[in-house]
Amino acid sequence: MVYSFIMQDKTVKILAIETSCDETAAAVVEAKKTAGGFEIEILSNAVASQIDIHKKWGGVYPELASRAHLEAMIPVLDEALKPVNGIHDLNKKIDAIAITVGPGLIGSLLMGVETAQILSSYFNLPVVPVNHLEGHVYAAFCGEDQSSNDKCQKIEIKKSGIFPILALVVSGGHTSLILMKDHLKYETVGQTIDDAAGEAFDKVARIMDLGYPGGPVIEKIAKKGNESKYPLPLSMVDRKTLDFSFSGLKTAALYLTKDPRTQKKLKYDKADLAASFQKTVCEILTQKTIQAARTYQPKTVILGGGVSANSYLREHFVREVSKISGTEVLIPPKQLSTDNAAGIAIAGVLKFLSGQKATWQKIEAKDHLPIDNN
Ligand code: KG4
Ligand code: ZN
Repeated sequence: MVYSFIMQDKTVKILAIETSCDETAAAVVEAKKTAGGFEIEILSNAVASQIDIHKKWGGVYPELASRAHLEAMIPVLDEALKPVNGIHDLNKKIDAIAITVGPGLIGSLLMGVETAQILSSYFNLPVVPVNHLEGHVYAAFCGEDQSSNDKCQKIEIKKSGIFPILALVVSGGHTSLILMKDHLKYETVGQTIDDAAGEAFDKVARIMDLGYPGGPVIEKIAKKGNESKYPLPLSMVDRKTLDFSFSGLKTAALYLTKDPRTQKKLKYDKADLAASFQKTVCEILTQKTIQAARTYQPKTVILGGGVSANSYLREHFVREVSKISGTEVLIPPKQLSTDNAAGIAIAGVLKFLSGQKATWQKIEAKDHLPIDNN
């Protein structure tokens, strides 16, 4: 058991930094052990989005992302550190710095990792390396009912009685079904064999000239569309595997917009295609999760990652997965679906309390970093 050796009774405060893609984020959380687990309060959650920078390129431009992280880092840290009255004497106010070490864009990750290393070295604070996907998983413990302001109220994370957890993380880089038999114990039981779900939203939006990021625009125009107009393939749904595939779906959408042989543009209805595509992706994600749940009988199912901000997916997924008896479904508030440091901080607290900390010299940014513990 990860928690058997947690003896710490005092309140701990963690500063977390997240820069794995195009969001510069920092957060401070405070946590204390309770009889049943942990009580965690998000004291701050600062996020600087780079969407405006990348919009004109139709996707994230890695060099520009690193530069933008550098520019945003100090203002974002200033904002996040407000509840502890700033950076002055930081070592007296927080216990550790949690940092996303991967996976992600290497240039972006390095901006956060090096900031954490500098702070750690200057203030003599331990560093807690966190996987980006862990942040998406633990953000879901905030629950969807949290108010829409940046902070969420106190959250309770139970030590036991919630496992196994089956988590579906759906983002621009990942579509992973992760099985957790205990806190911080991860086994990937299914993942995409080609495009990630968010990537498919982004690419189909680009095909339809809707701009970047694709998810929110597709969701918006889909509201006016007929989701049954264009039947699209429910790729892999009838197969035994728990893996996903979205590239065939993307190509099917592409060939509704132009003739594959002549490349001539075809007439199609954007709202109807957006609605049909959104419905198909959500159906695939939900069906595969239900299939995995039949195998692993989870007590808790988590939905997280940027695509989980999609209202259609949230409603459909919660409605269908909740039908499995004995299963509780957890999804993050929308503002903690997309990249943020609050989820990293929550995972960081649990890691810190279980002794998973390092000195700044020992941490390293990694663009490829499986979540699985070996
Ligand atoms: O987790 P995230 O913020 O960053 C990564 O880790 O990749 O996820 C970003 C992805 C993008 O592909 C974006 O299009 C998608 O999440 N996304 C959405 C929505 N909001 C963001 N997809 C569908 N519907 C949305 N409302
Ligand atoms: Zn993410």
